[in-house]
Order: sequence, then C-alpha cells, then structure tokens
Amino acid sequence: MTKTVNIAPSILSADFMHLGADLNDIEEADLLHYDVMDGHFVPNISFGPGILKQVRAHTELLLDVHLMVTNPEEVIDTYIESGADIVTFHVEAAEDPAKLIDRIHAKGVSAGISLSPDTPAEAILPYLADIDLVLVMTVYPGFGGQAFIDAMLPKIQAIGEACAALGRSPMIEVDGGIAPDTIARASAAGADTFVAGSAIFGAADKGARMAELRRLAEGI
Ligand code: DX5
Ligand code: ZN
Repeated sequence: MTKTVNIAPSILSADFMHLGADLNDIEEADLLHYDVMDGHFVPNISFGPGILKQVRAHTELLLDVHLMVTNPEEVIDTYIESGADIVTFHVEAAEDPAKLIDRIHAKGVSAGISLSPDTPAEAILPYLADIDLVLVMTVYPGFGGQAFIDAMLPKIQAIGEACAALGRSPMIEVDGGIAPDTIARASAAGADTFVAGSAIFGAADKGARMAELRRLAEGI
C-alpha cells in the first residue's frame, strides 16, 4: 500500500516579483506553506496577513500558516480572517497552548503545534489528543536553504509512536532542509507532510520536483 503524503511548498523561497506565476507552477501541491516571521521569535522578517489575503484570492490550495512569532495569541484571529486553513504556532511561544488550540478550532480552522530543534517531543505530548498537525522543525527556524538536521529523526519517530498509542493521526509535518536526498529519511521516521522551500522553488521544473519528492516520500 502506498503511503499518502502531502507536499507543502514554502513560498518563503518563491520569487516575490513573480509570486503569482510561482503559485501557478505549484498547483499540484497539497498545501501551501506560509512562513510568518516577526523578527523576534526568529531573527528574520517575512510577510504578514496582507500578503496572505492576496495569496488566498489567487489560489485554491489549503493555506498552512506557520507562525514563527512571540505572540501567537494576539495574531491568530488576523491570520484566520486573512484565509488560513491551518494555523500552526510554536509551543515555545504559546502561553497556554491548549487554550490557543481551542480558540483556533472555535473559528473552524485546523490547529497545528510546532517545536524547534532544541525542544523535546515531551513538550507537545499533552496536546496530541486535540491537535490536527504537529510540525517538527528539522532546521532552526528563521531561514530557508539550511541543512536538514538528522538528529531530529528520533523525535519524529517518538511523536508518531505517541500518536499511535493515543489512536490519533494528526498530520506529522517536517520543515527545513527537505530535498530529494533527505525526504525518504523523514518519511521513514513517520512524517507524512513535507514542507520544501528551496528544493521546489530552486528547481527549473517545480512540478517535476514536487512529483519527485512525492515519489521518494511514498516509496519508503
Ligand atoms: C524556516 C521555515 C521553512 C523554510 C524551509 O524557518 O519555517 O518553512 O521555508 O525552507 P527550506 O525547504 O529551503 O529549508
Ligand atoms: Zn515553515
């Protein structure tokens, strides 16, 4: 049986002077990954709700919003109103993750929880019963184009096992350094949803690269 996987291009690596054309090239994606960076939680600034609204108007793809911000409580409503289908916040930033998950769900949107490389799996286990997606960072958040951290593989596996023990199957998403030479390892560890920025937008044929990634992730 072929494993079902989701490919999520990260538009952080898109050509912002031709964003519409880049979006047209990735119509075969399952999710569109939208990285929000505030210059505080991470040392970089990306884009906010205004551009999300324009992206929403341009594409039918599910919008997977990854909030790398220190104050998710204050901004989730704006991102939901701007078109997010999934809102993922960092466990390191949330004051009360359970409450945040409830607030996201109350708006009819899926909720994700993310953990940075130095945060152990245990930090998110209390939320597995309620969450729709777990985002395991496989680089230090903040920038595209970094190398995949292999030491995250056991964490992906531990989270997958904890989900199975609870009889739950949230999406297990990996983000950072996902490319043809790393995706099979992440998939074998238990990830089913794969964010890729530079590997997709840096390819001459983005559709072919997505198909290649999908085949490698499915083929484990
Ligand atoms: C990094 C972002 C990623 C980034 C991934 O903080 O969360 O989504 O765009 O870029 P690549 O795939 O190039 O590592
Ligand atoms: Zn991301």
